[in-house]
Order: sequence, then C-alpha cells, then structure tokens
Amino acid sequence: MSLQEEISKRRTFGIISHPDAGKTTLTEKLLLFGGAIQKAGAVKSNKISEHAKSDFMEIEKQRGISVATSVMGFNYRDIKINLLDTPGHQDFAEDTYRTLTAVDSVIMVIDCVKGVEIQTEKLMEVCRMRDTPVIVFINKMDREGRDPFELLDEIEEKLKIKVRPLSWPIGMGKRFKGVYSLYEKALHLFEPSKRTLEEGVSIEDLSDPILDERIGETDAELIREEVELVDGVYPEFINKDYLDGKIAPVFFGSAVNNFGVRELLDCFIDIAPDPKPRETEERLIDPTEEKMSGFIFKIHANMDPKHRNRIAFLRVCSGQFERRKNYYHVRLEKSFRFSNVTAFMAQDKEVIDVAYPGDIIGLYDTGNMKIGDTLTEGEKGSYKGIPSFSPEIFKEVINLDAMKSKQLDKGLRQLMDEGVAQLFTYDLGSRRVVGTVGALQFEVIQYRLKHEYGATVRFAPVNLYKACWIESADSKKLKEFIASKQRLIAKDKEGKFVFMAENKSWMQMVEQNFPEINFHFISEF
Ligand code: G4P
Repeated sequence: MSLQEEISKRRTFGIISHPDAGKTTLTEKLLLFGGAIQKAGAVKSNKISEHAKSDFMEIEKQRGISVATSVMGFNYRDIKINLLDTPGHQDFAEDTYRTLTAVDSVIMVIDCVKGVEIQTEKLMEVCRMRDTPVIVFINKMDREGRDPFELLDEIEEKLKIKVRPLSWPIGMGKRFKGVYSLYEKALHLFEPSKRTLEEGVSIEDLSDPILDERIGETDAELIREEVELVDGVYPEFINKDYLDGKIAPVFFGSAVNNFGVRELLDCFIDIAPDPKPRETEERLIDPTEEKMSGFIFKIHANMDPKHRNRIAFLRVCSGQFERRKNYYHVRLEKSFRFSNVTAFMAQDKEVIDVAYPGDIIGLYDTGNMKIGDTLTEGEKGSYKGIPSFSPEIFKEVINLDAMKSKQLDKGLRQLMDEGVAQLFTYDLGSRRVVGTVGALQFEVIQYRLKHEYGATVRFAPVNLYKACWIESADSKKLKEFIASKQRLIAKDKEGKFVFMAENKSWMQMVEQNFPEINFHFISEF
C-alpha cells in the first residue's frame, strides 16, 4: 500500500468530556464495534474513584492502567482508528491538553442532564486554539435530560462553536424512542431491553407513513416539526466547516445502551480528517513527505524504580517510521536508533516494524526524551504546538538533605521532562518553585523523588496567582522591566523569562503600567 493510502486510512482522535459524562462507556462501545474487545467491562476507567482522590498510591497504581489504555488502535470498515485516552482526573488536565496536540479531531461527550460543564469548556478552549474538528455526542438520552434545543443553545454559547445536529432524538428519558439520523436519513429505534446493536430503518423522507407506524402519530408529528425547525434554524452541514473547526456536528444517543454509537462511528469515519500537514518552526510538513518526522507528546515513567526506563509516545507526522533506523533528535542534535518500538492495539501492546502518519508509537527511552521533542531524518525544525499553561498552584521546593542535591536536581529535571509539573527558578537566590494544576501532583512528586531518586523534599506554600511568560518587541524595555521586577522574575525549564504574579489586581496594574510588555498565560505565543 502506498504512503498516501496508509495516511487516508487513518483517523487519530481523542474523546473528551467532563468526568462522568460517559467517556469510558463510549470508548468501550467503539472498541466493541471495532471488534477490538469482545465484551463490555473490558475497558477500565482511568478515572480516580471518589475514595481514592487523595490517595496518590492508588493513583500510582492507576498509572499502570493508564499506560495500557493510553492509545487504543482498532480497525473499523477498513479504517485504522487510533483513539487516544485522556486522563479523567482534572488534576491531570495538562496531560489532556498535551494529548490533544497529537490528535486530528475529537469527540466531545456531553451529559444531557448536566449540559456543558466546566471541564468541557476548558477542553474546548484547547481545541479552539488549534481549530481541532469536534463532533459532539449528547449522551444519556435514556434519562430525563434538558430540552435538546436548549442544550444546543448552551453548547453554542458556552463552547463558542456553531453546531449542526446530524441526528435528532425522539423523546427522552422514559419516553425516549430513538433518533432520526439526518445524516443517513434513517430511523433508529431504541429498545432498552435488548441492548443489542440496533439496525436502522431507512426512510426516504419524514412523510413516510412507516414513521407513524413505528413511533405513533403524536411522536411522528412532533419529530416532523422538530426536524423542520432544525433544518430551518441550523445551517446546512458542510464538511469543510467542520474540518476547519467552525461547526460541530451533533449526535444524540445513550452509550451505555449501545444506542446512537454506530451512527456516530459511521459518520465519524466518513467526515473526520485523516492526518494533515503540521507546522514546524521552519515550515509546513506534509504527511506524504517521504522523510519521517514526529514529536513526543507524552512520557510515561516505569513504575519500578529499579528500571528507570520510560516510554516516550511519538506521534508520527510524515513518512514511514522504521524500527532500528537512525533518527535525528532535533533538540539534542544527536542520532538515536530504536529497537524496541511498540504500537498499541486496544488493550495490548505489540512490537512493530513500521508506523505511518497518524500512528502513535511507544519508544523505550533511558532519559533522553522530553515532551515536545522532535525526531526527523536530519531536518532541524521542531514541531510547534505543545504549550504549557500557567499552573494554578505553586509551592517552593525545600531540599531536606543537602547531601542529595544532585539527585534532587536530576529527579526534578526528569519529572518535569515527563510533564508532571512545571518548574520555575527565580533569578534572585535560585529559589525553585513547582507549579501544578492540582494539589495531587505535589504528593506524587515528593513520593517519586524519594523512591526513585533518593531525594527528600518538603513543599512550602508560596502565594502566587499566575506565571506569565513575558516578551516585548522592544528588548530594552523588556530588560528594564526584568531589572525593575527582579524579585518576581523566574525562568521556566526552557530558560524563558516568566513574571510570577502575586495576585490578580496587582497583575492588572502591572499590565497597565508596562504597556510595552506582553504577558502570556500560555508558554507559546
Ligand atoms: P467518564 O469516563 O466520562 O467519567 O464516564 P463513564 O463512562 O465512567 O460513565 C459515568 C457513569 O454514567 C457510569 O455510571 C455509566 O454507566 C453511566 N452512563 C454512561 N452512559 C450512559 C447512558 O447512556 N445512560 C445512562 N443512564 N448512564 C450512562 P456509574 O454508576 O458511575 O458506573 P457503573 O456502575 O454504571 O459502571
């Protein structure tokens, strides 16, 4: 098969949702349709259960599960689907953001009872930054949820994206009878008792009397009216608008009942993008280019401290990746050969010899890889687009064992390379501050520093609001600013200057007083 054919067969995507909306359930159903698993219950939720929320040992155990389910590859209708899992716990949101840089599209699950929730909004912001195409699946239609039109309005308003329903529910909760697929022009009836993979009834148009026969006259009239309204209110579905991230097609269903999942998958296969060109610092690289290139978006450390090897997840962006071939590591300006290359198929890992654009492969690494690193066949530009966001919680690292400062430095560096947290080193006095999205990471870091590196630390609270990356077109002004605020200037792990703002109102004042300085809450601008 040609490289072009391999590329057009691939769909690499992620499922995102607020916890509990049904991401795990939908993932499992998709794997069932793809024949990758045989029975329900095989996919472990990567969610951290309520009682384990503050138990980081439990989280460490779950890291084992999450590496196994990080990427789930399966085939459906001759298409190779790579489904990337995202952490369910919001403290690991940064990990989710990075994973989203490695996908070509996403499916967003929304609970029809709860509507758009906070985590959904944050994730959508990340999708919008890269114009990632989004399909919305409104789940749990077997429950008494909100009015579908109201839900769609809320999605448009809160997620700031236009929507286009491609299916429409017939009733809801106890009165839920199924959906009419506007995409296939077919009626899919819901039989909660059967829980089988449903077959659709094709109808030419909604005036077909079969509709009245199957769902009764009252509901038939209602669906006719509602679909007319949908066609009148929402623009016609144009695939390009979806691919450009301007409009999100919407499906309704009930994942746990297997309902609406097949239509979603069939439509996904038709409309979702195959791997597209991606930008490096130097140029746009087309996936069909013969030379291999790709980037690391995730690193998973071995849980066994005696074997400190790690798995680096590479997204192949162009050409063909071959095992045992030499690849150029752009940041280190060095060549590497990988003999242990794994692909992820549903629940299993297998050693593979080749991989194509869109594929995610695991490379065994002994400490050379960092999130954001690029591998090529000699070309020097790095892939763009793995930004860091300003952390929410900050604490100062206090070394409790002066004899182990080398181990501490190494441990901190490696944990930061894995993306566990962000490290900021103050210009004055070399104080080190760790920033995270959630409180759990501090326990994880403390534990791992002790058990994997032999370094003992304590975290002291520091009062900080945000870390802002700073730049200016006027380098003299930037220098002056840094000199005047020296006490609050730190460097991130790349050596970029960061202003450590202590509180919001003061931050606003500084922004007003220094109009020539640009303050960014994201490391890439
Ligand atoms: P998440 O990964 O997004 O966090 O959600 P997950 O799939 O774990 O689903 C959260 C809960 O919602 C689960 O119930 C699941 O069974 C339920 N659920 C998923 N899809 C549907 C649906 O279409 N209808 C209804 N009514 N419920 C749905 P749980 O009680 O937390 O777990 P379980 O005991 O059922 O496994």
